[in-house]
Amino acid sequence: MALTEKDLQILPENGIDPENPGKYADLLKDLQGNILRGHGRDSSVHLFLQFKPGQVQELKKWIKVFANKITSAQKQADEAKLYRDKKIAGDPFVNFFLTRKGYEYLEFKPFQIPGDQPFRFGMKNDTIRKLLGDPVVEKWDPGLQEEIHALLLIADDNVVSLLQTVNKITRELYRLAQVVHREDGFILKNEQGEHIEHFGFVDGISQPLFLKRDIERAKSKTFNKKWEGSKWDSRAPLSLVLVKDPNGKSEDSYGSYLVCRKLEQDVKAFIDTEEYLADLAKDKESGLPLESGLQIKGDVELGAALMMGRFRDGTPLTMKGSELRRTELPDDTKAGEFDDFNYDNDTQGLKCPFHTHVRKTNPRGDTGRVDSSGDTPEEALEKERNHRIARRAVSYGVDYQSLPDGKKWGQKGFKPPVTDSGLFFLCFQADIANQFNFMQSAWANANNFVQVNVGVDPIIGQTQPGDGRADEATGNRTQKYPIAWGSETTKTICNFNLWVHFKGGEYFFAPSISSLKNI
Ligand code: HEM
Repeated sequence: MALTEKDLQILPENGIDPENPGKYADLLKDLQGNILRGHGRDSSVHLFLQFKPGQVQELKKWIKVFANKITSAQKQADEAKLYRDKKIAGDPFVNFFLTRKGYEYLEFKPFQIPGDQPFRFGMKNDTIRKLLGDPVVEKWDPGLQEEIHALLLIADDNVVSLLQTVNKITRELYRLAQVVHREDGFILKNEQGEHIEHFGFVDGISQPLFLKRDIERAKSKTFNKKWEGSKWDSRAPLSLVLVKDPNGKSEDSYGSYLVCRKLEQDVKAFIDTEEYLADLAKDKESGLPLESGLQIKGDVELGAALMMGRFRDGTPLTMKGSELRRTELPDDTKAGEFDDFNYDNDTQGLKCPFHTHVRKTNPRGDTGRVDSSGDTPEEALEKERNHRIARRAVSYGVDYQSLPDGKKWGQKGFKPPVTDSGLFFLCFQADIANQFNFMQSAWANANNFVQVNVGVDPIIGQTQPGDGRADEATGNRTQKYPIAWGSETTKTICNFNLWVHFKGGEYFFAPSISSLKNI
């Protein structure tokens, strides 16, 4: 029997188990992988395709065959198990996504094209661009300025085999499509082997969880080893990320919307700012510390956490404000796995400022405290939780640790990149307007958030000169910081540099595999 809408909205008590999928069996076989859990491969290649004119029938033929190579959610789980049990590596991981223009090129009728509004507009649309605070299209990477029809994601732990697969696919596509942009992604790791992003923070900790294994693992990292009484429940219903595929061939054919954004990180400028916040930055002429920083006694790591909301090792800033960070976590839990917290003990943002990236992108109940709609705190929290996204980002650019003289984060001689490295941000959701777009525009970019004038998210908040959120001339952003951890005295600081630069992106749909086999 087909799944009902209710089946998707209800949170299965302990998550979906691909080893014993029950009524979710058809869904998992027809759904692309990477949506319900990240593909987990160390290296990936992303090919942005523009279909060549006059090739509709040939392309459809190619897609039909290619669909057999796409990794389903079920296959992803089966291969992961095989690897866990017998260390046998799986096939290359493959995803295929389409834009609205891609669907149109392939002659789908309007009612067959997934209906989400931002998806239909596309990311280059002026209204969307202004909503998100994105720069004009002429400033994007040249390839991403082009009309994009599809995105292919190919991932593998073995780089040689990855490149062989990519070469084979590009040869097949030669007559049918042009690769207008290629982005190579990788998983950056710190000295402890944890997954980090270019600023050096452990990443990918807090995610909505759908599958039994992930849920059990997260539960074991809560203080009480159960969800009841925990401060944060990371489980999520399938309706957070899945929508019916209008072209699916089974009753349980689902897809998901993908937001893709290339975000360049100026790591040097970020480090300069954490030093500046920590009162370490020296005046160029006198060599004396600048007076403008905070009173945090040169604790640069605290300076960085005051922007991110977690320390580099993952410790939530709301829990700890000093060097003694790796303490007081549940047994065997590393800070980079820890997610059982909220801001109930920090309602004024004196420990973890409201502008910090993790607080703005997941307020964990903050918005309920100022909700004027008459909702109970539980209802407000439920609405807030519906804005969550499934993040699947990878790093791009210089993988300095793989260079012969490469230095890892924190090692002496590490040279922070300024340009051409960053986060290739990907996230899945069921409703782009209510999820990614809301998070970026109503939370990250907003100057008022829970309180007035807290400032934009220093990591991803986007402001453009003249939009009222920034200094008119420079586009610089201001934030309100407690001068020390827990202090009631705050200081408004204008960051002298912007360190995350949007380089282009697009909205895609991940069609069900059966819709592609029958295209
Ligand atoms: C969490 C970095 C872009 C949404 C985090 C964390 C880090 C981080 C270090 C904490 C670790 C974790 O919980 O996984 C960055 C960097 C970015 C970036 C360096 C850009 C260069 C974005 C964008 C969005 C976003 C564009 C969406 C608008 C989130 C969310 C969380 C998060 C939802 C989880 C917060 C929580 O649940 O506590 N990010 N991020 N990030 N980020 Fe980002």
